Amino acid sequence: MNFLELYKNPHLIGAHRGASCLAPENTMDALQKSLGHCDFIEIDVQLTRDAEAVVFHDDTLERTTDIAKHPEFGSRKPFRVSDFTLEELAALDYGSWFEPNPHTEPVLTLYATLNFIKKHHLYLNIEIKNMHGVFEDTQAVAKVLEMIEQTKTSHLILLSSFYHPYLKIAKKLAPHIPTAALTEDKHPCETMEELLEYLRYLQVCAYHFDLSLADRYVVKELKEAGFHVGVYTVNSPKKANELFFMGVDAIFSDDA
Ligand code: G3P
Ligand code: CA
Repeated sequence: MNFLELYKNPHLIGAHRGASCLAPENTMDALQKSLGHCDFIEIDVQLTRDAEAVVFHDDTLERTTDIAKHPEFGSRKPFRVSDFTLEELAALDYGSWFEPNPHTEPVLTLYATLNFIKKHHLYLNIEIKNMHGVFEDTQAVAKVLEMIEQTKTSHLILLSSFYHPYLKIAKKLAPHIPTAALTEDKHPCETMEELLEYLRYLQVCAYHFDLSLADRYVVKELKEAGFHVGVYTVNSPKKANELFFMGVDAIFSDDA
């Protein structure tokens, strides 16, 4: 089964940044704690200064690392991930900020994540963060694809991004890997007809949006046009049931 086939099942639960209610987001601990509680894991991926792929959500390191406790990096504000090498990132801790259970967690690479999901035969949604202007678009996508190729995990992967040009590049370089367009607060088109046309142009199999955009009409039109629908971030079981009843295929939850 690949991710496309997984998406034929109803009521899918994606562990958002891993089990991010139970463990520090986007860490190995969060991946491990989601085992048995989700249908797939969602992670965020971006490149380091030396173009290694790491699993990390924010553009900067302040919120989810202990960089403030590293005087050697004091002059490197605003602590952008893309300004640090993987070796430098490996000196930081990714779990001591986490409440109510602060503990040490190492940096998580995409490579380690792919090996983990392969070992557990778990599906993975890789969100490629928008690195436009920092790395060449093709370089950013190609690095993610290189890791997937190296670990032979393409059958377990769904690629997504808010930066839709990445999705076109991914389709060109790896047409066998399914993709999903992400949006927040606003659809990228004025009318439903234009939106469906746009999603067809992107060659995505799915459209993922935030809770504020979830309504019965949009979900029905997308489903009738053959797109899978995912909604983030949904931490209430009652809300999840409402969305599934509406026809939503997958929800992304911190509480998976
Ligand atoms: O992929 C769904 C969701 O993760 C997108 O929003 O900000 O949590 O990456 P964000
Ligand atoms: Ca994400």
